[in-house]
Amino acid sequence: MKNKILVTGGVGYIGSHTCIALHEAGYDIVVYDNLSNSSREAINRVSTLIGQSIKFIEGDVRDAESLKRVFSSHQFFGVIHFAGLKAVGESVAKPLLYYNNNVSGTITLLEVMAEYDVKNLIFSSSATVYGDPETLPINEKSKRSCTNPYGQSKLTVEHILEDLAVSDDSWNLIPLRYFNPVGAHPSGKIGEDPNDIPNNLMPYISQVAVGKLEKLSIFGHDYPTIDGTGVRDFIHVTDLAKGHVAALNYLEKQTSSNESGTTKQNSVGFLPINLGTGKGTSVLELVSAFSDVSKQDIPYQFAERRAGDIASCYASADKAKNLLGWQAKLSITDMCQDTWRWQSINPNGYDIEK
Ligand code: NAD
Ligand code: WQD
Repeated sequence: MKNKILVTGGVGYIGSHTCIALHEAGYDIVVYDNLSNSSREAINRVSTLIGQSIKFIEGDVRDAESLKRVFSSHQFFGVIHFAGLKAVGESVAKPLLYYNNNVSGTITLLEVMAEYDVKNLIFSSSATVYGDPETLPINEKSKRSCTNPYGQSKLTVEHILEDLAVSDDSWNLIPLRYFNPVGAHPSGKIGEDPNDIPNNLMPYISQVAVGKLEKLSIFGHDYPTIDGTGVRDFIHVTDLAKGHVAALNYLEKQTSSNESGTTKQNSVGFLPINLGTGKGTSVLELVSAFSDVSKQDIPYQFAERRAGDIASCYASADKAKNLLGWQAKLSITDMCQDTWRWQSINPNGYDIEK
């Protein structure tokens, strides 16, 4: 058994897939989640998929006493910190809720980590920290700026991590900047389960395909892109999950290289890394790929541009490849196939009552 890892927010969409990848890679994991945006059924299904009960603690990252109980019962190598809120529109309506969850929650977690001398962290950042990019593909040195409270909360946490790394070189902090995660586990047992009407493109398309929603609105068709619709770097969630394992392997290698029997510590400091495929796909291209895979018609209409949207966004994935030896493998067809399998087997997500 490899090192023990605390996974905050591990019941959610990306966290649940990452728990499986961590288990497959031999890690011992403890999941900590307040279930504010996830379901116990996801824990049951991950347990079924890994063939053993997942260690789960219900708790909030803003609750220092609860976190201290967890850290005093387990010896962690590090933390993968997914816990947070992620809806851009809701963050505009409820900024304090977002800063409280995403920023205060992370500060509380870091304070408890410091107290227990656990200094290795992988943080869920986002391509949203790049705002409207000046050049494409976006690399890790590209300028950062955000226009909504959700994005600001991610950028603020990145600034906090940078300051922390400067203040004390025993911290090893990797913000992974995800591009557009989509897809589901190939088993069809776990996937993305949005509350209410989805805000994001892939779950919207799949709910139209399954007949839950009537028609997709495509926000803008006059962007300077291949077909006038927005272009994004969609990445399969299982590739993304493996990116976390690669980042963890990197942290382990850097922090304990054995040289003639002694353990040498190399500080990683603050090390942001993009997780994307490096390829852009337009909204219309994704609709067409999904329709081909599902053999369903996806009715759509063109609508006004959505406020805050940008024309194109895709990653330079070179740093992840060179440093972590990680590369996304799965195609847009794989992403559509796995989303469709999940959506058609579970038309109401984890909730049979919905
Ligand atoms: P998700 O909502 O499915 O998962 C987040 C999990 O965190 C949920 O299970 C939720 O219950 C839990 N949580 C929220 N606040 C908490 C708190 N205060 N204490 C404990 N648990 C809490 O979201 P996801 O799509 O899996 O995203 C995971 C992380 O990745 C988030 O931080 C998100 O901002 C970031 N991210 C997501 C995307 C995306 O498109 N899905 C893109 C970039 C970054
Ligand atoms: C993709 C494209 C839309 C819905 C968001 C967050 C970002 C990150 C990932 C967390 C755009 C178009 C969408 C619809 C459409 N999350 N679209 N009709 O906006 O790139 O990124 O999720 O960190 O922070 O902002 O993703 O899936 O919402 O949109 O035409 O019903 O699809 O205009 O061009 P986005 P998305």
